[in-house]
Amino acid sequence: MDSWVRVLLLAAFCILPVLVECRVRHCNFHVVAKNTTRLCSSKSIVTVNGQFPGPTLYAREGDTVLVKVLNKVNHNITIHWHGIRQLRTGWADGPAYVTQCPIQPGHSYVYNFTITGQRGTLLWHAHVNWLRSTVHGAIVILPKRGVPYPFPKPDNELVLVLGEWWKSDTEAIINEALKSGLAPNVSDAHTINGLPGRVANCSTQGAHNLPVESGKTYLLRIINAALNEELFFKIAGHKLTVVEVDATYVKPFKIETIVIAPGQTTNVLLTADQKSGKYLVAASPYMDAPIAVDNLTATATLHYTGTLSTSPTVLTLPPPQNATQIANKFVNSLKGLNSKKYPVKVPIKVDHSLFFTVGLGIIPCPSCKAANGSRVVASVNNVTFTMPSTALLQAHYFKINGVFTTDFPAKPPHVFNYTGAGPANLNTTSGTRLYRLPFNATVQLVLQDTGIVAPENHPVHLHGFNFFVVGRGVGNFNSTTDPKKFNLVDPVERNTVGVPAGGWTAIRFRADNPGVWFMHCHLEVHTTWGLKMAFLVDNGKGSKQSLIPPPKDLPKC
Ligand code: C2O
Repeated sequence: MDSWVRVLLLAAFCILPVLVECRVRHCNFHVVAKNTTRLCSSKSIVTVNGQFPGPTLYAREGDTVLVKVLNKVNHNITIHWHGIRQLRTGWADGPAYVTQCPIQPGHSYVYNFTITGQRGTLLWHAHVNWLRSTVHGAIVILPKRGVPYPFPKPDNELVLVLGEWWKSDTEAIINEALKSGLAPNVSDAHTINGLPGRVANCSTQGAHNLPVESGKTYLLRIINAALNEELFFKIAGHKLTVVEVDATYVKPFKIETIVIAPGQTTNVLLTADQKSGKYLVAASPYMDAPIAVDNLTATATLHYTGTLSTSPTVLTLPPPQNATQIANKFVNSLKGLNSKKYPVKVPIKVDHSLFFTVGLGIIPCPSCKAANGSRVVASVNNVTFTMPSTALLQAHYFKINGVFTTDFPAKPPHVFNYTGAGPANLNTTSGTRLYRLPFNATVQLVLQDTGIVAPENHPVHLHGFNFFVVGRGVGNFNSTTDPKKFNLVDPVERNTVGVPAGGWTAIRFRADNPGVWFMHCHLEVHTTWGLKMAFLVDNGKGSKQSLIPPPKDLPKC
């Protein structure tokens, strides 16, 4: 038997600007409704254990984690452990109708997985409909006992969960949008650990407080748990030293502003080396396409202990919403650590070379009056993914026919000027089509944004794997010249990567994890519209190369 559960739960309860910690030995996630007030208005939200953001899951590399999720609300629920590799344990991955049927009201399911070869910051979130807007929290994986960080030991660690807040119910918002054919409303505020900070017309709104002591160094574990928006993050008067993204170490570098997409995490070191005082912390939207976003900046305060409450806060200006240069500066600085202990194992030889277009489309919708009889959809290689009514992993494991096909196209059906104005009316087909890979195959995947409707940055997330980001560029990918510029030495390793608006990103990974693995845009609105697909990875021949049998309590559809 593997080591028994070692899960500590730390509940950062941030409804009041006070941190309440509770440590327990068993990990129970009770999904419950909770009345809560933000922006001077109240609503009932779905939460884990009544907390928003939810409890931080603390574990150590090598731990086997068991989380019992008990559904006490009126919605189907699943929890996804975003970025956890789930080696051979796809049953515990969480996306509804991909690896499991959802947990129905009144039912429970125990997620059981071992954290192998990973340490750092990740996040957990609901993976059904739009429930992750309030059902999310941090995962902190400490290195094995006695193993140091590959950077100076911080004096303390703080978790910062960035989010989005809607005054009305998010399930109602997306349902309404699907009916009308139009884009859903943007959020009403961004949040830092659940709080928006100062907001016009609502003076009672609290702001999150980050207490620091002069001269000390802090590891900030920053998570973007927002539904639909990439965010800039900065702290007035302080530089941030980036040491990790998506639970993989990077070559440390100093920067003023980081950019972080939904599903991504960034660990930075911050030294309280400025004059004692209060400094503004700002999270603001990044959007470089003509697409509406919530333009409110969430604020928190970095507070040196001993600072008089009357002393003013040192302010900072958030970057302009379309500051692509600032975003690129951060993204281009990311390199894998590539040390002896943490080498970069990027596949050099490629078995499957794939080219996927990602973007939007328009299809007829006679009932969509508000959108003049059409609706927005999204697709990968012109396939708008249709969710099945039974889970793909079960269909695969139990050999249930008729649920999916394995003919997902390796390249787009038509070649066109992807990033130009282009033909706007390319037909999208729908289907539950998977791309099949033999165990241990190496894959190169070029993700190409399209300009159909509008170019837009898509943070694409792959379940079950980390990948290496070997290249990135603007315009259409050139298969002759661009690969010559790939970084096969120290590319950054991630689980979610931004495909730049009107550009492309190339990633590589090894299909060493049997199962069915979802890949989708982590902007929830695009996932809803169909910007998703899945890989089916066969079992290998070795004794430890096949999917383990499903647990007895696996939910039924
Ligand atoms: Cu964090 Cu499939 O998602």
